[in-house]
Amino acid sequence: MSDQPTPESESQEGEEERHSLSMDTLVSFCASRGFIFPSSEVYGGINGFWDYGPLGVELKNNLKAAWWQRMVRERTDVVGIDSAIISHARVWEASGHVEHFSDPMVDCRHCKKRFRADQIPDEPCPEAKKKKQADRPCDFTEARDFNLMLQTEVGASVDGRSVAFLRPETCQPIFTDFKRVRESSRQKIPFGIAQTGKAFRNEITPRNFTFRSREFEQAEMEFFCHPSDREAWFERWREERVRFHRDIGFDDSNIRMRPHASDELAHYANAAEDVEFRFPFGWQEIEGVHDRGDWDLSRHSEFSGKDLIVTDEETKERFTPMVIETSMGVDRTCLALLVNGYTEEALDGGETRTVMRISPALAPVKVAVLPLSKKLSEPARALHGELSRYVNAFYDEAGNIGRRYRRQDEIGTPYCVTFDFDSLDDGQVTVRNRDDMSQERVPAEGLGAWIRDRVGVAL
Ligand code: GAP
Repeated sequence: MSDQPTPESESQEGEEERHSLSMDTLVSFCASRGFIFPSSEVYGGINGFWDYGPLGVELKNNLKAAWWQRMVRERTDVVGIDSAIISHARVWEASGHVEHFSDPMVDCRHCKKRFRADQIPDEPCPEAKKKKQADRPCDFTEARDFNLMLQTEVGASVDGRSVAFLRPETCQPIFTDFKRVRESSRQKIPFGIAQTGKAFRNEITPRNFTFRSREFEQAEMEFFCHPSDREAWFERWREERVRFHRDIGFDDSNIRMRPHASDELAHYANAAEDVEFRFPFGWQEIEGVHDRGDWDLSRHSEFSGKDLIVTDEETKERFTPMVIETSMGVDRTCLALLVNGYTEEALDGGETRTVMRISPALAPVKVAVLPLSKKLSEPARALHGELSRYVNAFYDEAGNIGRRYRRQDEIGTPYCVTFDFDSLDDGQVTVRNRDDMSQERVPAEGLGAWIRDRVGVAL
């Protein structure tokens, strides 16, 4: 009798149901499986800050790698940088953030809580509830502007210390580095500069898990073009970014584009469209495509006294390039991937399985090696070692095989490889597919490249 694992008998067709996911379910799933959990958790957490665990960091890195692949590596007209998080204080004066980057804030005189004036919850005051005055609302102060930039001090001595800001968006160093990068990379207009990295905003009311945090990551690209090409590039980048979100797994029922009305444009934007995802808490922005015009280069030119104008080599025309920006929130897109992927399926026999249906290119673990018996540990561990040279591989010999498959399904592992006693003789292993649970025997030799070809970073 063969000791190969038998195919799971459950039929899939027509039985998959989109789980009506609550954020509470997702938040506790993410913490218990090691995707994302509160930062400083043993001290009760710190509002607006989150840590990514062993699976979360892989997911986030894979998303950034897919973005970098698409936006930088596959193009000849975009180059990448990695700039410092803290910049010269004048950068944020020139960018307009010192003057304009604020939200209207109100305080409640009873409960002393702070709220964004445009996001006041429709609930009675918590202080009134305590005093059994159930319906009494908060008693708000007049709204005042609250600047969202987080401050720090740079320098050791008291006299030499100076106030600095943690960047509230990753793009400003792209503008200040524009001339250096253009010249050193020998790029000509039109071209773009991209970077991913941390940004910080002292949000008044962080909420909805990682959706509105105080520390988060952005993946931004600033595309510099001639003023006459500005609208065409806006349209091209808008389409390109929607394509990216479709390619990472969002279908048209879950993403949409929303143009900004003129009264909601940021201080730097002439036009903007958001890519929105349908979260359990409603349609919300995960990326913005912005026409920033010549705002940033002109302001940095004015504040630094440095000439950031370019000359067209053929026509000799001198002009300040216009900028089209694509700005993706990495954490928000990770959150959208988790919401989008989380599925509970009914199987034959009344069982259910949780499956994280996430693109193989983004899945945190690509393959799990599961020996059918602990007696097979040695060759199975050797196979795991071999696969790890190609992709992120996981090894698990604890529990029955069905339970081990389920553990991989729920974290989105596209392939499980079962090593059985026959494998010792025929050099073949059973590869089980996450999505349809089908199984096939394949040679163990060459399996690393076989899997890598199916889960590569290119979408
Ligand atoms: N450079 C342009 C810029 O920063 P934005 O619309 O303010 O534009 C771009 O931010 C993206 O950054 C948003 O679409 C969102 O995904 C992400 N983002 C902004 N604030 C965030 C926050 N507090 N927490 C998590 N992500 C945030």
